[in-house]
Amino acid sequence: MKKLFEGKVALVTGGGSGIGQATALAYAANGAKVIISDISNNDTVSKIIEAGGEACFFQTDVSIAIECAQLIKQSIDMYGKIDIAFNNAGILGEINPIADMSIEGFEKVISVNLNGIFYCMKFEIEQMLIQRGGVIVNTASILGEVGFGSFSGYVAAKHGVVGLTQNAAIEYSSKGIRINCVAPGFINTPLLNKLDNKTKAELAIKHPIGRLGKPDEVASLVIWLSSDAASYASGGYYPIDGGYLTL
Ligand SMILES: NC(=O)c1ccc[n+]([C@@H]2O[C@H](COP(=O)([O-])OP(=O)(O)OC[C@H]3O[C@@H](n4cnc5c(N)ncnc54)[C@H](O)[C@@H]3O)[C@@H](O)[C@H]2O)c1
Repeated sequence: MKKLFEGKVALVTGGGSGIGQATALAYAANGAKVIISDISNNDTVSKIIEAGGEACFFQTDVSIAIECAQLIKQSIDMYGKIDIAFNNAGILGEINPIADMSIEGFEKVISVNLNGIFYCMKFEIEQMLIQRGGVIVNTASILGEVGFGSFSGYVAAKHGVVGLTQNAAIEYSSKGIRINCVAPGFINTPLLNKLDNKTKAELAIKHPIGRLGKPDEVASLVIWLSSDAASYASGGYYPIDGGYLTL
């Protein structure tokens, strides 16, 4: 039987860990050739190859525009097209109330979590226009819709990702490019390593489902949005949050 993404090429930024790695493995398990991009090398490609899939790695800092342009060029040189792009690389950044937050800390999280999404989308869309189609999924957050004390840079960046996603969908949906964002609740990944166990337990109970999420649970939604089953989904904001936003 034909696999869901057979013949497709999928690019994942931040593919070395957490949600990005889980999604990259899921793309590969569903037959896609997967381009893993991350700021540092990691074991995602070897995991995919061990499981019988096809993948390659390109090192990219998404906060640097020229590196994002280079990533798209390397991807095209490698596989000739990008059918699916999952723009997911991100950091938590400095945790401080606004008056105490350093200018550098604020600028850093904006440069990775917001500018990085813009740069990747810009060069991906240029390519997808040539191909006459493609799918983009951006990783926003529940903090793209509501605030969270001491996370102002992160919250501002993720609200920006939602806006960029909506604007891109207005501009390109009629050209065969679907663009959506996912909004995870708190997911148990290395991103949360900065937080102690007590804080994680307090966060868990903010989700009506009673626990933090798992990377695979976000990957399932990204897979659906990336597939033809989601052919009428564009410009959307998709929470996957154990009910966090209902409280
Ligand atoms: N874990 C959560 O609770 C949670 C909740 C909502 C949204 N998110 C978002 O999900 C995405 C993935 O996070 P995760 O939880 O899997 O974290 P993670 O730390 O496990 O993975 C993030 C990956 O991004 C990479 N990265 C960091 N800076 C980069 C840069 N400048 N250029 C390229 N790659 C870079 C890291 O090396 C890492 O592999 C992020 O955008 C994050 O904001 C996470």
